[in-house]
Amino acid sequence: MTDGANVQRTLVILKPDAVQRGISGEILARFERRGLRIASLRLLKVDRAMAEKHYEIHKGKFFYEDLVKVISASPVIAFVLEGPNAIAVVRAMVGATRPHEAAPGTIRGDYALVGLRNLVHASDAPETAESEIKLWFPSGLVAYTRDIEKWMSEDKAPS
Ligand code: CDP
Ligand code: MG
Repeated sequence: MTDGANVQRTLVILKPDAVQRGISGEILARFERRGLRIASLRLLKVDRAMAEKHYEIHKGKFFYEDLVKVISASPVIAFVLEGPNAIAVVRAMVGATRPHEAAPGTIRGDYALVGLRNLVHASDAPETAESEIKLWFPSGLVAYTRDIEKWMSEDKAPS
């Protein structure tokens, strides 16, 4: 295949339900197994101001207040994943917003039941990925490369 390696970065948050249920490692492992590179990672308790900034686009919606309260109730694990088409790849792995509509094999389809406890946030477009990465990792990412990278993300044969 030579459809070009459109390498992207995307922000993922394992919400409080994932950490409290003790399945954050399992979820992270799925992304690693897929071949995505962890470009940075942190565990943190989100305060109200941060939650409001992150969910700004949902302000005014009926679920907004619950959303802000739920994400700031207990620590989350936030990380940046990198790889070819990472934004769409991660969204597909996460599954539909409403877990009863999420396909089996997706994270929400395998582990979740209701919208407010759907375990994962993932950026939905290049613009949101960029602004969310800045919001959650204001001091930048950790620079490193993986020796195995070419076996997963090189989309052309060596010359
Ligand atoms: O997380 P995703 O991008 O799939 O969905 P969203 O439309 O950006 O909504 C953000 C979050 O709000 C969801 O992940 C749900 O936790 C919650 N939500 C909800 O509880 N009920 C809805 N009808 C829509 C969203
Ligand atoms: Mg969203």
